[in-house]
Amino acid sequence: MTVQSRDPTTASTVDPTAPLLLFDSGVGGLSVLRKVRALLPQAPVIYVADNAGLPYGSKTEAQIAARVSGLLGRLTERFRPRLVCIACNTASTIALASVREVLEVPIVGTVPAIKPAASMTRTGVIGLLGTAATIRQGYVDRLEAEFAADKRLLRHGAPELVTAAEAKLRGESVDPAVYARAVAALRSQPDGERIDTVVLACTHFPLIEDELRAAFGPGVSFIDGSDAIARRVAFLTEGQDWRRNQPDLALFTKGGDDVDQLGATLVANGLERVAIF
Ligand code: DGL
Repeated sequence: MTVQSRDPTTASTVDPTAPLLLFDSGVGGLSVLRKVRALLPQAPVIYVADNAGLPYGSKTEAQIAARVSGLLGRLTERFRPRLVCIACNTASTIALASVREVLEVPIVGTVPAIKPAASMTRTGVIGLLGTAATIRQGYVDRLEAEFAADKRLLRHGAPELVTAAEAKLRGESVDPAVYARAVAALRSQPDGERIDTVVLACTHFPLIEDELRAAFGPGVSFIDGSDAIARRVAFLTEGQDWRRNQPDLALFTKGGDDVDQLGATLVANGLERVAIF
């Protein structure tokens, strides 16, 4: 993540009603929103799910970069957020640098938590669950080379888990075989049986952490980037005033039954208004 220093002059000039804008392809970013809420309960929030583009994980780099930059450009013009959080590993590992080049607003991205995983593992074998697009990124190769060169990092792209998390949050039941398949895909790789730490490198996956924990069995710890992201958001907005003058908003790029079924989840996350963008 690029280090951005706080500008002491901005604290007093930020419109107190200016929201934080969190962006993901679907409900995954809610795992980040929960942590942001815990640190900044007073912050007005717009949560954006590009569900018309879901899943990002099966798209090309060019498709993801174009989609994310285009949407964030339109969203920041329309809603004037004080900060944008790309609460999506796929979008961040592919498009963070280019989005930062074109938008003026501070942008916090999501980075696979390989660095903390490397200091947690005792066996030296780390599993990484992400989308197919994330696990092939040079960004991940660089994190591995920098922080886990003396470890073994076993990767698995698991689109089924994205679908499972979306279904769970709509209140649907999910076949546990989905979780067992993701575990088997990591365990069956050379040294896979020695995995003791799993990086949840997709923001959807902390939403199904209990199910994954049960499927892995005892002796496996999980780590994701959400705590670090929330701390970063709090740091970059420290000293700013906050005023929520209307209920927080969830925006989707496509309406339909799936969105209607998310109603209870959205309200539970403090998102009391829903609109299509
Ligand atoms: N939540 C997203 C991530 O963190 C990706 C899900 C998808 O659209 O495939 O990578």
